[in-house]
Amino acid sequence: MGAGVSSERKVELVVEQIAWELRRIRDQGGKAVVVAGPVVVHTGGGEHLARLIREGYVHVLLGGNAVAVHDMEQNILGTSLGMDMKRGVSVHGGHRHHLKVINTVRQHGSIAQTVEAGALRGGIMYECVRNDVPFSLAGSIRDDGPLPDTVMDLIQAQADYARLIKGADMILMLSSMLHSIGVGNMTPAGVRLVCVDINPAVVTKLADRGSIESVGVVTDVGLFLSLLATQLGKLNSAYANEVAR
Ligand SMILES: NC(=O)c1ccc[n+]([C@@H]2O[C@H](COP(=O)([O-])OP(=O)(O)OC[C@H]3O[C@@H](n4cnc5c(N)ncnc54)[C@H](O)[C@@H]3O)[C@@H](O)[C@H]2O)c1
Repeated sequence: MGAGVSSERKVELVVEQIAWELRRIRDQGGKAVVVAGPVVVHTGGGEHLARLIREGYVHVLLGGNAVAVHDMEQNILGTSLGMDMKRGVSVHGGHRHHLKVINTVRQHGSIAQTVEAGALRGGIMYECVRNDVPFSLAGSIRDDGPLPDTVMDLIQAQADYARLIKGADMILMLSSMLHSIGVGNMTPAGVRLVCVDINPAVVTKLADRGSIESVGVVTDVGLFLSLLATQLGKLNSAYANEVAR
């Protein structure tokens, strides 16, 4: 029960701790990096991650083609891999939605240009562009499209990741085994790693690769992000009260 990875633990307590740390990092001008997979969007966590970016808690976003594609699919067409995100049902013809979105972005030239054109008005990628939060999308053999922003030259993608994690105080890894372990392998000792995944084996795998500073949270990532956003909201009002006093 005392180990770094356990599913038998009160998630709220871990989230509270992470919220305090994110708050401290933001207030002290530190650097928090988020690594995210598409499950973040599929589980409804996209709006919460977007809020964290908007409120200045995230300073770099790392991921692959899918997190960006499904985030933009949700914000342009209301679905994530064809599932209506409000009603939780699949939409007729929805299997084509993510390809339509990839083509829309390709027509505009890039994610930033899609935002500038007003064709993307919310979500994780929108907030990154609007708030000048740098992101890198590393390509993989699983990718559809890919998006013009997805870096298919993996040596280049690794170099981008390495440059962007430099000086990080905390790296929050959200439900991407591929990108979390990749980032774990290139992170120097002393950086706080928090890995959120529903599969304890993934969290253990990261810790086994020598990332001794890692904390594992075995839970659903959508619920985790919802709790984290709520917790940060509470911290904000507690802080506001203190300042007003
Ligand atoms: N359409 C596309 O282009 C497309 C689609 C999917 C994946 N990909 C690409 O494939 C690569 C691998 O994708 P990945 O990172 O999604 O896969 P991955 O297998 O590396 O990681 C997914 C992780 O999510 C975890 N998970 C599943 N449900 C969860 C939940 N509810 N809460 C918390 N964790 C949960 C799993 O245990 C797993 O560890 C990426 O580069 C991605 O961009 C592309």
